[in-house]
This record gives sequence, C-alpha cells and structure tokens, in this order.
Amino acid sequence: MVLSRPISRKRFLRYTLGAAASVGALTLANLKESQQPKADSLPLQTYDSSLTLKHFASKSGLLYGAASGYQILSTDSEYAQRFAEECLLLVPENDLKWRTLRPSPGEFDFFKADWLMDFATRNGLMVRGHALVFHHSLPDWFDAVVTPDNAEQFLTQHIKTVVNHFKGNMHSWDVVNEAIHPEHGQRDNWRLTPWYDLLGPEYVELAFRVAAEADPNVTLVYNDNRLSLNRPSDRAKRSAVLRLLERLKANNVPVHALGIQGHLTGGLQFDAAAFREFLRNVADLDLKIMITELDVIDQLLPADIEVRDRLVSDMYRRYLDVVMDEPAVISVVNWGLSDRYTWISRHKPRQDGLPARPLPIDAHLNRKAAWNVMAQAFEQRAA
Ligand code: G3I
Repeated sequence: MVLSRPISRKRFLRYTLGAAASVGALTLANLKESQQPKADSLPLQTYDSSLTLKHFASKSGLLYGAASGYQILSTDSEYAQRFAEECLLLVPENDLKWRTLRPSPGEFDFFKADWLMDFATRNGLMVRGHALVFHHSLPDWFDAVVTPDNAEQFLTQHIKTVVNHFKGNMHSWDVVNEAIHPEHGQRDNWRLTPWYDLLGPEYVELAFRVAAEADPNVTLVYNDNRLSLNRPSDRAKRSAVLRLLERLKANNVPVHALGIQGHLTGGLQFDAAAFREFLRNVADLDLKIMITELDVIDQLLPADIEVRDRLVSDMYRRYLDVVMDEPAVISVVNWGLSDRYTWISRHKPRQDGLPARPLPIDAHLNRKAAWNVMAQAFEQRAA
C-alpha cells in the first residue's frame, strides 16, 4: 500500500490497530518445528552475590542500566535499592514522554522527571532521556491543538525547553523514536505518525538540530525497534534504518548514536551473522551503538519456569555474544530490571496468563539465569 501523501492521525491509528491485531494471535503453535526453541547446554557461570551487572559492565567499559519510573522508585524502596545497586544508568520509561511532561499546551511538568534525576544523583547513577519525539504517549490535547501550521513551533519549543531543563545532567537523549516502519509503504520507509503527518519527514532532521543547539554536549540518539531478529520486517528495517542514518550523516545532521531497542522474542530466529554485519555497518558511519530496551518476550515459550528462564537466557547469550564483539557499543539497558515491573505483562501477556519473565532479575529480586549470562557476556568483553 503506497500512500501519495501523509494521512490524518485517525487513519494512522486504524493502521496501527489493524497491524497489532494480526500480530497478537502469534503463539507457539505458529512456530514451525525447526523454530521450536531448544535450550543450549552451555554451563551457567555463577558469581559472588556482592557483584552486580554494573560492576561487570564497567570493567568492560560499558554502561549498564535499566528503565524505571517515578511511580515505582518512589514507592518500592526494596526495588529502588536493588536498582541503584545493579545499575549505572537510569532511563525514565514514561516520565519524559509528552503525556507526562505536557499537561496542557502551555505547560511543562517536570516533577516526576526531576525526582528521578535527584534519585539518580543521590545514588550515583546517570540518566538517559527517552524520548523527545515519539508517536505514543502524546497528551490528549495534542490532536485538537497541534496543526501543520504550528507543529514546528510546538516541536521546537518542546525540545528546547526539555533539553535545556536537563542540560549538563543528561547522558544522552533518544531524540526521535521509531520513525521507520517499512510496512506503511511510504517512500524511504517512513512510519505514518502524527509528526510525519504534520511536518513530513523533515521533522527528524529538525528535532536533531534543535536538540544539538540546546545542548551541544549531550549524545543524541536515533532509537528504533525490530532491528535485531530474522523476521522479514527486521531485515527490511535494518536496511531502511541504515539508509536513514546514511542520509542524516550525509546532511551533517548531529546524530551521534543508534539506539537498538532489543525487545527480543523468545522462540523467533536470531541471525547472528546478519546482526553482526548490521552493527558493523552502523559503526562504519562513525556512530556509537546503544542497546536501549533489552528484554526477551516469553509469550511463545513453555510455561515451565526453569525451561522458560533457560530459553530466555539462551537468547540473551546469543544476542550479547554478537553485541559484545562490536567496539562501537557503549551501553546496554534493560527495559526494566526485574520481572516485578515489566511492560510485557500488560502489553504482551501470555495466553496461559502466567506472569512474564523477560528480565535478568525475578519478581522477588533474585538473580535469574539471564543475570548470569549478562554478567558473563560483560566479563568476557573485558577479557
Ligand atoms: O499511568 C496511567 C494510569 O494512570 C492509567 O490508569 C493506565 C490505564 O490507562 O495507563 C497508565 O499509563 C500507561 C503507561 O504506560 C504507564 O503504565 C499508558 O496507558 C501506556 O500507554 C504506557 O505504555 C508505555 C508505552 O511505551 C507507550 O508509551 C509502556 O509503559 C512503556 O514500557 C512502553 O515503552 C516503549 C518505549 O517507550 C519505546 N519502545 C517500545 C517500548 C515498549 O512498548
């Protein structure tokens, strides 16, 4: 389906909901025998309980962290303490999105984000910002207020105000998130989003230039999903994102890194050679690489916890074996630290209703096989 011009947000939402419904039916039954996940037999390294993921990551020159938020860290002190022990980087999962920061067209509310920045400072963590421009979690007033005539002014004011507010305290910013979506059939594989609808593809370059002018010293990241696996959509997206990055670099747009989200799906194919080549191609553009939202969706995996955890850890291992080999990689961030709080429970629930187990630490804050595999991967990079 090729559309000759951007479309309204209402039609954009219809596309998104239709696509989501078709994927929602994906189950283990859909996987061919050859795809059925098999646990590898590599021995699990065990580590002293005093050691942490940030310890191993730092030894290999990497930043390790996770996403969390004001609601969790300000109310669950046991979790907040473990988070501060394991992580060197905090990413606000939702507290830096428009919906949180912009209660009304003329207002900025930094309360939650400032609390998180203070939490990070008190615990010796750095913060990375997510996301200045995204098509999800826009405020309810957005559609009625932002028009093609004033959209550039809204985008510019938002980025200038938010980046200036945290100037000197932000490790990096996801400036634009998920702008590429080949399935939407647009020239250059642009995703049909309100920003694309309002400003055309130029919104991406504008966002980076405004962010760089607001803070010339912060690392500016283009962040995207579905770049890691061997689905046809991932293969198409890797080349489309590479072409976007080539265009941005050719136009001297101040983009410094690619954020690869890394929401992996256990049971789906991972082509290590293809992903390794992709990382190298990105690095050859003189870009850094950040794994920004790593987790393993376990919808398709067996119910048995020991088997499921081992299959999840195998996927972490295969993925990180490739990631750790690429010198341009500077950070690895999980999208949540513990199964106690994961977006997957709500957004990608298992058909059997069992709690999701996508992360390195379980809901009782115990290490899982994935924790050991991550520690081993970081340790091996340092070797
Ligand atoms: O806080 C409200 C709550 O008051 C209300 O009762 C509830 C029911 O409507 O909604 C709550 O807000 C939800 C928010 O998460 C906090 O849980 C929003 O509806 C929901 O849309 C939002 O989802 C977030 C999603 O991004 C959309 O922004 C997920 O938590 C978050 O994990 C997810 O993260 C994205 C990254 O930003 C980009 N990459 C993919 C990743 C996973 O989808």
